[in-house]
Amino acid sequence: MYKKVPGTKDILPEECIQWQAIEQASRRIFRLYNYQEIRVPVIEAAALFDRSLGQSSEIVQKQMFLIKNKEDIYALRPEGTAAIVRAYIENNLDKTQGFSKFYYIGPMFRLERPQKGRLRQFHHIGCEVIGSYAPEVDVEAIGLASALLDAYSIQGYQIQINSLGCPKDKKALSDILHKKLKDKKSELCADCQDRLSRNILRVLDCKEELCKNIVKGLNIGAEYLCTDCQDHFTRVKAGLDDLNVRYEVAPHLVRGLDYYTRTVFEIRHTGLGAQDAIGAGGRYDNLVKELGGPDTGAIGFAFGVERLLLAGTNPPEAGSNLVYVISLGQEAKKAAAKLLDKMRASGIACDTEYEGKSLKAAMRKANDLKADLVLMLGDNELKNQSVSLKNMQTGEQREIKQSDLIQELKC
Ligand code: HAM
Repeated sequence: MYKKVPGTKDILPEECIQWQAIEQASRRIFRLYNYQEIRVPVIEAAALFDRSLGQSSEIVQKQMFLIKNKEDIYALRPEGTAAIVRAYIENNLDKTQGFSKFYYIGPMFRLERPQKGRLRQFHHIGCEVIGSYAPEVDVEAIGLASALLDAYSIQGYQIQINSLGCPKDKKALSDILHKKLKDKKSELCADCQDRLSRNILRVLDCKEELCKNIVKGLNIGAEYLCTDCQDHFTRVKAGLDDLNVRYEVAPHLVRGLDYYTRTVFEIRHTGLGAQDAIGAGGRYDNLVKELGGPDTGAIGFAFGVERLLLAGTNPPEAGSNLVYVISLGQEAKKAAAKLLDKMRASGIACDTEYEGKSLKAAMRKANDLKADLVLMLGDNELKNQSVSLKNMQTGEQREIKQSDLIQELKC
């Protein structure tokens, strides 16, 4: 028997209801903020990610699903940002629409060691705002993340923010770290020893107790930020305060991808154990230019849908709006087929059972399907050219003329 690939998941119909509720809530909120949906391929040139995320990032080093095709190497996209910037430039959106606000929903792929909350195929709900350096855009993005979390009814999360500064500041921070960690190499965990040469900033947010204590002792403040970057960060924090968005400043928050500059943020959930980030993002002011586009600022974030579900989302499920038709007898079945056809043509979702089950068994099925209404058709109704409609929530039942059915259901 075939089994699914480790780190992937079947999302069965019952769970799809929750996924749809999250997706619908997201689309509603993105619409309120005037973000446009964008859909990009799941395969891209691997070089796009090498260039954007950085050779030293863990994703590029060991987590890309690569497909070799003659001389070309493709990657299953490990994230959406680089692909969307590629699409923005390739489709000349910088020239035709300039400042753009995109959102996306779809699968991402990383060859990670699977564990709770860490999959090889997982799903992002994310957004990218391209074309502005304004700190107000950072405020809008973080405020939007918070509005989405409210729409998902998630409790118990913290938004942590930090500023990495501009590339010069990032270099200054690396230099400070090199100096301060020079004599401490042997005390660090194996990963951090490796990070000293590959990606020293990542030592700052290592999860190992050993490294956390060493980092605490380094007394790294925000002294590496230049005046412009300090000012930017101050304006972001003030804007969030004005909107009453709750956040914490996390001075050691850095991100694993090279493209980030200035504001970075992560949303953590206390109930999730080791993989506690339900979403993350930040500014990437150099990426558009780096990939061949104009010199322009950008910011975005992405939530991991599987982690949102683990955190206990509870967006209100839309009613099923389903009419379940139960017909008793051969003649009633024929009349029911016509009514089903008529309802579907009028945009009313409906279903029936074909096996000639008892009324009791058919009602049980209607319950399982969470039908809003049951439409019953037996000898009496046939004689009267009517149907009986039962409201499954209130239990109320009434008989109406077949000719009035569509009108009734549309009200
Ligand atoms: P990221 O932090 O790599 O950022 O991923 C965002 C979120 O995706 C994480 O916070 C987590 O919830 C979820 N996630 C990541 N990896 C996995 C996995 N293996 N299994 C399950 N969930 C996972 C990005 O990808 C950036 N592109 C976000 C961004 C958008 N930055 C700017 N714009």
